[in-house]
Amino acid sequence: MAKVISFINMKGGVAKTTLTINVGEELATRGYRVLVIDMDPQFNATQSLLLYKTHQRDAVIDKLHSEINNSAEVVEEDEIVKEMTSAEEYDALSKKKLTVLQIFQSTDISEPPVNPRLTQEIVHNLDLIPGDLTLAKEISGDTANKVGAVWDHLTNNNIVFDYDFILIDCPPTWSILTHSSLFASDYYIIPSKVDFYSSIGIQLLEEQIAKKIKNDSVYKLTNRKLKRLGVIFTLVHRGIKAEETRINNLKEKFPSIKFFSSNLPHMPSIPTKFVMYSDAKGDSKYDQLINSIEKIATEIVEKIEEVVKLDEK
Ligand SMILES: Nc1ncnc2c1ncn2[C@@H]1O[C@H](COP(=O)(O)OP(=O)(O)OP(=O)(O)O)[C@@H](O)[C@H]1O
Ligand SMILES: [Mg+2]
Repeated sequence: MAKVISFINMKGGVAKTTLTINVGEELATRGYRVLVIDMDPQFNATQSLLLYKTHQRDAVIDKLHSEINNSAEVVEEDEIVKEMTSAEEYDALSKKKLTVLQIFQSTDISEPPVNPRLTQEIVHNLDLIPGDLTLAKEISGDTANKVGAVWDHLTNNNIVFDYDFILIDCPPTWSILTHSSLFASDYYIIPSKVDFYSSIGIQLLEEQIAKKIKNDSVYKLTNRKLKRLGVIFTLVHRGIKAEETRINNLKEKFPSIKFFSSNLPHMPSIPTKFVMYSDAKGDSKYDQLINSIEKIATEIVEKIEEVVKLDEK
């Protein structure tokens, strides 16, 4: 059965989406079957992965193009075409009701969805359940009966049996979206910047998880056990003494929390240049960044193996 992992922090902009999609892609290239679920109405994982799909699909044509004419202008125009293609692709998916929104809405039996699983292939071994910009608006109001919606979707459609990892990109606020994501998860990972405010995000998250999941009487009945895999420090400025001090302070602040030994380094030029880090492969400037994703993926696999072994004892 798939291991379901939520990437979550109550603080925004800490690289939750970046980690979810890049770790997902890394695990997929290692041969694991991976599904990414974009639970954030901001929709960044979907935008990035659909664009990545267009890039990968056109890679061969691009190579030919660059051999014929590789002026910067042509490359830029080509990029705009790709963005439009991926946006059109999303538009079609949204019209066919193939987004995460359907997980929370009862299906109209007279009009069953074309693909009840809602999964879309991005590249080999890597699928996506696309996000939906209207998600927050559409499922406001009384949502108490929706807490199990993600878990029901994954089990009713046998999705959990078809993947090794299901990675959920969560929004940075507590709502039914985060609640039902964690309800469906075996593990959660907390990406965190090395600053005071992100540490408040960790604190708030831990309080919510204790209250709404671990000590919740309905959750207790399910026999499921959400486990924290640890905190991953993100957007870390390398070689700066103050950053090391901040890391140590945060570790002291949360003595009972485990921290990943690998961090995600800060590299200001990456976001504008590459949607997915793997697009930067071959450019030695980004070796450290790509390495960090590989190390984080390895640590995730190892940590889960450790937990599974302990559970078996
Ligand atoms: N290695 C990096 N160095 C510097 N900036 C980065 C790096 N990787 C990603 N970024 C940028 O950092 C910002 C935050 O990343 P991301 O969107 O993944 O965070 P998030 O936690 O998902 O945010 P939100 O809470 O808004 O969903 C983005 O603008 C992204 O492009
Ligand atoms: Mg995000």
